[in-house]
Amino acid sequence: MDNRAIGVFDSGLGGLTAVKELKKLLPNENIVYLGDTGRVPYGSRSRETIVRYAKQDIDFLLKKDIKMVVAACGTVSSTLPKEFSSKLPVPYVDIVLPAAQEACAMSSRGRIGVVGTNATLKSNAFGKAMRGIRGDIHVYGNPCPLLVHLVENGMIEPENKITSLTVQMYLEPLIQEKIDTLILGCTHYPILYETFNRLLDYKVTLIDPGRCAARYVRNILMKDGMIADRQEAGTTEYNVTDETETFNKTASIFLGEQVTGSVNRVELL
Ligand code: DGL
Repeated sequence: MDNRAIGVFDSGLGGLTAVKELKKLLPNENIVYLGDTGRVPYGSRSRETIVRYAKQDIDFLLKKDIKMVVAACGTVSSTLPKEFSSKLPVPYVDIVLPAAQEACAMSSRGRIGVVGTNATLKSNAFGKAMRGIRGDIHVYGNPCPLLVHLVENGMIEPENKITSLTVQMYLEPLIQEKIDTLILGCTHYPILYETFNRLLDYKVTLIDPGRCAARYVRNILMKDGMIADRQEAGTTEYNVTDETETFNKTASIFLGEQVTGSVNRVELL
């Protein structure tokens, strides 16, 4: 048993889609969330910058006395070197392997699409992970750099014409390849789940990386005897690196519920 919190971070608020799933699966766990809202997006930055930011995010969480680090960010998950993450003092979970496993298990014809940020697609991390799991798959990727901005600006309704047209543009080459499964390789994208579904006629299996990562976290905690033994609901502490005024409104969209718990503005050094 381990009553320390689970540390979760993202470049912004997208990682809250993973927090939402963690709260569902592990309601008694405390969670400390860090969203680097002052520096989002990471996905159009250089590899060196993304790694530097991710290390600062992880350092912040480690000072909070956590039992695990969850990189709820596709960009960090695809970029942070294993040599670094494997040496952390607590277990490290990212979204790549859990989503890759799920996609390989769900895909009927082995034609799997991946969407994410520029950095994520450039790394080919999802493709590499999937080829290590299943030999017969074909992977088709397309970066979608505009989607994080649309989501962070609240343009998330399936009826929103601009968002719908943008998603359609990004999906076109993947539809041409007749994909049967699509990894939403950025934690902001599950907010657009219905938009993706409608444009794909509900015929493609969508993989939500936050949901897959949450299941993966639960398995590790159970296997290693690290589940919290408190009876009451766990608490969530939110930390962001930019203003907190609009946080509650935007965060509640990602969480699918009102924000309860403290919201702090923090500096990362
Ligand atoms: N949530 C991040 C990801 O999953 C957002 C992208 C970004 O910061 O560019 O990649």
